[in-house]
Parts: sequence; structure tokens; C-alpha cells
Amino acid sequence: MNLPPLAELHLHIEGTLEPELIMELAARNGVDLPWGGLEELREQYRFEDLQSFLDLYYANMAVLQRREDFAEMTRAYLERARQAGVRHAEIMVDPQAHLHRGVDLATSIGGVADVLARSEQDYGISTVLIAAFLRDHPVEEAQQVLEDLLAMGAPIDAVGLDSAEVDNPPEKFVALYDRARAAGLRLVAHAGEEGPCSYVSQALDLLRVDRVDHGVRCLEDDALVRRLVAEQVPLTVCPLSNVRLRGVASLEEHPITEMLRLGLNVSVNSDDPAYFGGYVDENFRCLAEEFDLTRADIAALAANSFRGSFAEPRRREEMLALIRRWEEGEAPTP
Ligand code: ADE
Ligand code: ZN
Repeated sequence: MNLPPLAELHLHIEGTLEPELIMELAARNGVDLPWGGLEELREQYRFEDLQSFLDLYYANMAVLQRREDFAEMTRAYLERARQAGVRHAEIMVDPQAHLHRGVDLATSIGGVADVLARSEQDYGISTVLIAAFLRDHPVEEAQQVLEDLLAMGAPIDAVGLDSAEVDNPPEKFVALYDRARAAGLRLVAHAGEEGPCSYVSQALDLLRVDRVDHGVRCLEDDALVRRLVAEQVPLTVCPLSNVRLRGVASLEEHPITEMLRLGLNVSVNSDDPAYFGGYVDENFRCLAEEFDLTRADIAALAANSFRGSFAEPRRREEMLALIRRWEEGEAPTP
């Protein structure tokens, strides 16, 4: 199955660190990981819930030491994304997590941004950089990191909110989002992944986000669904992630097709593809097989990904035109 051009809107760059690269960087940087080798590391990729994944995700970040390590990870993602048909990517990075282990902002943000600055020429992928903040840490810490990013002129386009969701509601972060909005940044936040659907409402009403990461639990509230449909709030759904983190019992029970039929603005994304069994193309292929998606369904999901993006209007229109041609059965674009 070939795919139309895609935008990937929900992607944690640290979640693209493949086990092989983790072991390579650990050896190169002299980092002692708790696992003896590649096989033992691979055995860790069985998760009970979001927290059990986050424990491994943060532990593996230890191998990212130099600016070039961040650049190498970013190049590896863009190369894989190009093969998946991604033409625009909005990439989250967790600078706060790196600061906690003594890696400064210039190293983490700088290493990723060095590669993104040339992503369109080098990979044919336009990119947006999102600094994500850790909701299980104090808001004051996030505010200081945002001030530091702004003071250094970091090339960030948006802010996000991630990490452990339950008991860390969006309302804790109003001041952070007010500051980011005043600085001209776009706003996204994880909500309704493991947390209740009231967090989706809070993200919209209190943080005034442009889109919601995940949002699948919105289905528990009919009034909220009607609002999300009416306002066409983009929801960046991550099917394989939801199954691996047991937010959804199986792919068969995933509500994405129901969400599409309800008229929600849903897109398909990979979240942390090195951990959840697939990049965005694999997410699409698993869905297509499970639900017998039609060409029109795939085109609708792809179009939503560009409509929910922060891509330049010209880029967005160019890609939407290509998706319409793909839907009509024309040959895939190179
Ligand atoms: N950080 C990386 N991946 C995440 C996810 N799926 N949810 C919350 N925080 C994350
Ligand atoms: Zn995520």
C-alpha cells in the first residue's frame, strides 16, 4: 500500500532512539546503562501503562550527551520519516528532561535544531520544533526553562506539555501557556491520553491550545465531542502507542475510525515510534489492515494532518492538492 503525503504532528524525538543507536551512543560516550546488551534492552519494551514507558524513555536519554548525538538522532528520524512519506513534521523535544541530567539547552535544542534548519533541503520535510514541558514537575521550573529558551533565541515554534498525565492537569500550567502565547508561540498539550476528558476541556479553555495531543478519551463526553467537531480542534491520535501503553485494549478496539466518522479532526501519528512498534507508515498500515480503510479514509486522515499543522499556508495547500490527486488514484509523488 502506498500512502499519500503525510504530516506527522505528534512525535517525541527522544522516542525515535532505536535500541541499536542507544547501545552505540552508550559505548561511544562511555555511559553505563543498566542492561547488559541489545537483547536485554529489547526485553524492557513491554509496558503496563504510560509511567512504565516513561521510566525506560527517561533512562535511555542518558546516552544523549553531545550536541552531535541529538543531531544524529534527528537525522535518523528524518531519514526514516522520509521513507514513510512524511513531508512535514512537528517535532517535540524535552529540554527539561535533559537539563535534569546535566545537559544544557544549547546541546539538546541546538543539536536537534541544527538538523531541522536544513530538513526541507536534505529530506524534503518541512519541520516545526516544539519545546515540551514536563507536567509532573513544578510549573515554576517549566517557566524558567521557557524564559531561558526565549533569552537564548532558541528556534522553537511552539510549546507542548507531556510526561505523566494523571493528577497533573492542564490548569497547573496556565501561566506558562500565557507566557508562551505572549511570546508568539503556538500551543499544543497532551490531554485525554490516560487522563480524564476534563483535561481536554481544560487544555482548550485554560491553556487555549491550538490542538490536542491524543485526546482519545474525549469520547467519554458527548458534549465535548460536539464541541471538538464544531471547532475542528485537531487531535493527534497515536494508535500503536495507545495499544502498547494499554490505553486501548487492542488495535481492533481503537476508536480512531469512530472518531473519523463522528467528524473529529483526527490524524495518525507515531508518538515514540522506536518504543511502540512502528513509524507513522506502520501505524497507517496496521489501521488499514484492521479496519479495511478506504482510499478516502486514508486521504481524510492525511488531509487532517496538514490541516492541523503549523505548516506555511503554501506548503499546506500544495500537500492538500497532492493528497486529492492521490485519492483520485494518480501515481504517488517521489
Ligand atoms: N513523553 C514521551 N511520550 C509521551 C507520551 N506518549 N505521553 C506523555 N508523555 C510522553
Ligand atoms: Zn506523546
